[in-house]
Amino acid sequence: MSERTCLSIILAAGEGTRMKSALPKVLHKVAGLPMVGHVVKAALEAGSTAVAAVVGHGAEAVADEVRTASPDAAVSVQDKRLGTAHAVLAAREAIAAGYDDILIMFGDTPLVEPAALGRARALLAEGAAVAVMGFRTDRPNGYGRLIEKDGELEAIREERDCTDEERAINFCNGGLMAIDGRLALDLIEAVGNGNAKGEYYLTDIVEIARARGLHVGAAEVAFDNVLGVNTMAELAEAEALWQARRRQDLLLSGVTMIDPATVYLSHDTKIGADTLIEPNVFFGPGVSVAGGAIIHAFSHLTQARLGEGAEIGPFARLRPGADLAEGSKVGNFCEIKAAHVGPGAKVNHLSYIGDATVGAKANIGAGTITCNYDGYNKYRTEIGAGAFIGSNTSLVAPVSVGNSAYVASGSVVTDDVPDDALAFGRARQTTKEGRARDLRARYQAEKDRRRAEKSKA
Ligand code: UD1
Ligand code: MG
Repeated sequence: MSERTCLSIILAAGEGTRMKSALPKVLHKVAGLPMVGHVVKAALEAGSTAVAAVVGHGAEAVADEVRTASPDAAVSVQDKRLGTAHAVLAAREAIAAGYDDILIMFGDTPLVEPAALGRARALLAEGAAVAVMGFRTDRPNGYGRLIEKDGELEAIREERDCTDEERAINFCNGGLMAIDGRLALDLIEAVGNGNAKGEYYLTDIVEIARARGLHVGAAEVAFDNVLGVNTMAELAEAEALWQARRRQDLLLSGVTMIDPATVYLSHDTKIGADTLIEPNVFFGPGVSVAGGAIIHAFSHLTQARLGEGAEIGPFARLRPGADLAEGSKVGNFCEIKAAHVGPGAKVNHLSYIGDATVGAKANIGAGTITCNYDGYNKYRTEIGAGAFIGSNTSLVAPVSVGNSAYVASGSVVTDDVPDDALAFGRARQTTKEGRARDLRARYQAEKDRRRAEKSKA
């Protein structure tokens, strides 16, 4: 099948009024990726050799998103929404270029799996002119029913047109289809709009194909593949299904999650085997974690990398550009941004490390802050291998601390510290014997005086 060419047409012209949102529906995100991005990704993974999107509402933003996932995608605009068959014909030019298979997909159906698309394509390879993606459900209400006879799909009957017998059928139309590329234009152009809604229904091509003696099949897929999102509630449902699916994949690939339901993943999260993830961890987009890492509870990661055996949290915040080498540690209440933390280095407590490099095995004491921003520009801090930064140090960038250098606690470091040097950046301590007693006496006298004055008044 892989030699067959395939054009995927993604219908995404809908306004999505029921979302009650200014954002075009298909740009709402599931796992951090706009729904239409998921659809394009699935199309490509199912072996599509070309992608065409039909856009309308929010055309430019939707087109941009499609091109992000598939730079060569053809985009056409459907300016009037006259039905799904009419929408497909907006991509007429792409269809006419000639493909073995045409896949019709919806931009608001983000959970479609490549394997399910493959099943529909397989029916074409076996000689079907049209393959419909159907699902079985106990609650078929509202869906078109798939009317089969001797293994052939005869028609898709909308609920309101069903006989009682047909209404009892629980095999329903998911909406997605595969069509023989040589027949597609002919079949779709034959669709009329003589129905109650006056729309051109793509589903009509089933009966048109059958009337011409062509084969039509139905590929049974799990319901989530065809789950269409129309409201924020359905978006949340799609999100939950996506998360459950992906968590399951990770568990089966050797990742430990103590309470999987509390771990939020993004569309591109990569986690190696033997990583342990404690409860309540959030992975934003662009995170990769090598094997054997430990992510303690309540950590939040975005565009970050953890090397083999790195350990973070609890309550670690890894922001974009956090790059933790193998065996490094970032502990509680630490924030790392655009910084490389070298192999075996430790940033264990209450620190901010931003725009910095921390050398191998360096030890960053509690409360260390890189002062990377002066309100106008950002500057870098370089910390050498094996350096020791004492607790509560402010490193005022641009500044560097050399290999194996030692910075005393409470320092404000404004000048570079050479290799192996010891730097103090704080006032020297003075101790006055007995003066605490004098101080207390003085303060008590002042308190007594004020009290006396008040009672006189
Ligand atoms: C469709 C099926 C129905 C199936 C259901 C499953 C048709 C005619 N009906 O109905 O049998 O049970 O899906 O969810 O296909 N679109 C455009 N331009 C248009 C019309 C639609 O781009 O002119 C897009 C929509 O934005 C949407 C998709 O096509 O992404 C499907 O259209 P929709 O109106 O949701 O069809 P349903 O009524 O759900
Ligand atoms: Mg729909």
